[in-house]
Amino acid sequence: MSNKMWGGRFAEGPDAALEAINASIDFDQRFYAQDIRGSQAHVAMLARQGILPEADARAIAKGLSDILVEIEAGDFKFSRALEDIHLNIESRLAELIGPSAGRLHTARSRNDQVATDFRLWVRDTIDSTDKVLAGLQTALAKKALAHAGTIMPGFTHLQSAQPVTFGHHLLAYVEMVSRDRGRFADARARLNESPLGAAALAGTGFPIDRHATAAALGFSGPMRNSLDAVSSRDFVLETLSAAAIAATHLSRLAEEIVLWTTPQFGFVRLSDRFTTGSSIMPQKRNPDAAELVRGKTGRVIGALIGLLTVMKGLPLAYSKDMQEDKEGSFDALDTLRLCTIAMTGMIEDLEPDAVAMKKAAGAAYATATDLADWLVRELKLPFREAHHVTGRIVGKASSLGKALEELTLSDLQEIEPRITDAIFNVLGVERSVESRTSFGGTAPANVAREAEAWQKRLADE
Ligand code: ARG
Repeated sequence: MSNKMWGGRFAEGPDAALEAINASIDFDQRFYAQDIRGSQAHVAMLARQGILPEADARAIAKGLSDILVEIEAGDFKFSRALEDIHLNIESRLAELIGPSAGRLHTARSRNDQVATDFRLWVRDTIDSTDKVLAGLQTALAKKALAHAGTIMPGFTHLQSAQPVTFGHHLLAYVEMVSRDRGRFADARARLNESPLGAAALAGTGFPIDRHATAAALGFSGPMRNSLDAVSSRDFVLETLSAAAIAATHLSRLAEEIVLWTTPQFGFVRLSDRFTTGSSIMPQKRNPDAAELVRGKTGRVIGALIGLLTVMKGLPLAYSKDMQEDKEGSFDALDTLRLCTIAMTGMIEDLEPDAVAMKKAAGAAYATATDLADWLVRELKLPFREAHHVTGRIVGKASSLGKALEELTLSDLQEIEPRITDAIFNVLGVERSVESRTSFGGTAPANVAREAEAWQKRLADE
């Protein structure tokens, strides 16, 4: 039997392999609510414009509402032979209200329909993603305030560099997530135009009102070019780019949690709720959730690269390749959501070991820059020279097997005779972080102020 929605010119039905490769209903049924929303706006407009008799429009609107109820109750039978969500719903509408269902598709094509549905879905998903990202920021800011003065080593090249505070480190991620949210918001603003009424590619001769359907669906207006409306997927690409960057930020934090929870670092302890055991090694506490946040970033990035690759060779306007825009996007945005929620839970629960972190912060001559700065400030040495003198002092400490603050004044004066014992004030890690009061610096007072400001900003949103 030929296809009942478009089979007029076909004598034979599709091969099983065609049906299998062509059908998108297994995944695009996720659009059902957006599809019905779009159809409701379309049919109301057709009636207002006198394109459809009122009675038909009413029957269609009622049928669509009934279908929404059926789908949400789990009573709707999706059919692969009907390819996609659009044809499944339209075919069910015909069963419910008879031939007037066929009038719904006047002045519309699945090409503008799917573009509309997907924009609506991405818009809704950006809104829910924003909420979970704000939740993560709230957890980070709270933990940061509690640890505004908890000292840890700051690293460059993963080598001890200078002491920082744990709160400062966490607030770095609050800033990153803030930009992630900004990227999603930018993508949302740009995608919020309606493709509906572009029809197959060229527009339509019916006197439709695209401004009205755009407004009814919460779009800022109709897209200005019908070819662009049906062939562009940059709105998904932009959203996936934002998702890939956000996932990359989560992945870096996850990697740090993995490192910090090793017995070798021993900086933080994850709660039992976010730790798994080993089936053979009874002592193990594994940070699986953090590892999976790191690992799942691969599929978010993969979705972006996958869709860029699909789109790069497509001539205008619609090609069926574009049906490949959905599965990766669904997966990527679901994954980002799950990873964000898991990360929020880990951050809420994790407890730093302040003693271990402080000890590590003081190791490996991490206050050498403070020593050099002292030479610049007190002895007026040029920084480069101070750097050189400090390097010699570190070399000496290292050969004596001492920390910087364990050197005696005469040890220090052998290298630079003008050094006084005032220098010992700057060699401790507390003094080091307290001195970093420049804007954006790690001084505990700065960090507490920033963490409070973030908490307030987030609460006021
Ligand atoms: N399922 C299709 C998609 O996702 C809908 C658009 C189909 N358009 C068409 N001309 N076959 O892209």
